[in-house]
Amino acid sequence: MTAPGIPAGAEPLEGAIGKLVGVGVGPGNPDLLTRQAIEVIENADRVAAPAIAADVPGRAESIVTTAIPGIHLERLVIAMPVAGRHNGRGAEGDAGGDAGDATRSSYDMAARRIACWLGAGEDVAFVTLGDPNIYSTFPTVAQAVRTIVPELQTETVAGICAFQDLAARSGTVLLDGSQSLALVSARDGAGELRDALARPDRAVVVYKGGNHLPAIVSVLEEHGRLEGAILGELLGMPGERVVPLSQATGPVSYLASVIIPPGDP
Ligand SMILES: C[S@@+](CC[C@H](N)C(=O)[O-])C[C@H]1O[C@@H](n2cnc3c(N)ncnc32)[C@H](O)[C@@H]1O
Repeated sequence: MTAPGIPAGAEPLEGAIGKLVGVGVGPGNPDLLTRQAIEVIENADRVAAPAIAADVPGRAESIVTTAIPGIHLERLVIAMPVAGRHNGRGAEGDAGGDAGDATRSSYDMAARRIACWLGAGEDVAFVTLGDPNIYSTFPTVAQAVRTIVPELQTETVAGICAFQDLAARSGTVLLDGSQSLALVSARDGAGELRDALARPDRAVVVYKGGNHLPAIVSVLEEHGRLEGAILGELLGMPGERVVPLSQATGPVSYLASVIIPPGDP
């Protein structure tokens, strides 16, 4: 029987369904695309990238086309929930728990297209910013495809995360010895950051904090951890800035990360 969403003409032979690979392409600088990622992208039958509109290349697509000139990508329009004025998300957000109807239906449409390719026996590489297992669109896309193709096989290729690039760019040692790291989301405010700062010897990385920077600064000040905190915005992309958080002014993009090295225990 043809799986729902797979056209009759694309009915696969037993075992001929392609596999779906989530490929991390790093935060922005095409030089941070790994050799493994390039190999998987070049060998895929189909390469797909999230985009906010059919005529606007997404961030991951721009990285791939710069690193591999001439490569053809399919744009999958994914509507992201808009969190605020300066979001600049570029379809690299995550559906999260409160994804709206538009977001859900865009994932369903993307899933149907991917299911068609897989049903025709094609291996599909889905490229995504940073790493595909960290706050990525990939697991949500894969889950949506799985509702159409229950036997779906997925794999992922690790990508360099924004916070790693930021630590390197700013010369920040994030962890040493037995120290630990908390990676928190500030999508809904600075509450998770406050919890993470409860242990002074823990390093903290804040993602998705672009709309809550003043709250992040004041929580860090309260905990005596503002000094040493670094803001990295649009790393590897036009408009990039890497500055001490205490000196950051003006609006901040959704693609902004903060790293906070461990304080004194
Ligand atoms: C949906 S998450 C994607 C994370 C990505 N999968 C990773 O592994 O880094 C988006 C958040 O990642 C961070 N981020 C991703 N790319 C970035 C970049 N080029 N510059 C600064 N932060 C970035 C920001 O905190 C942003 O809000």
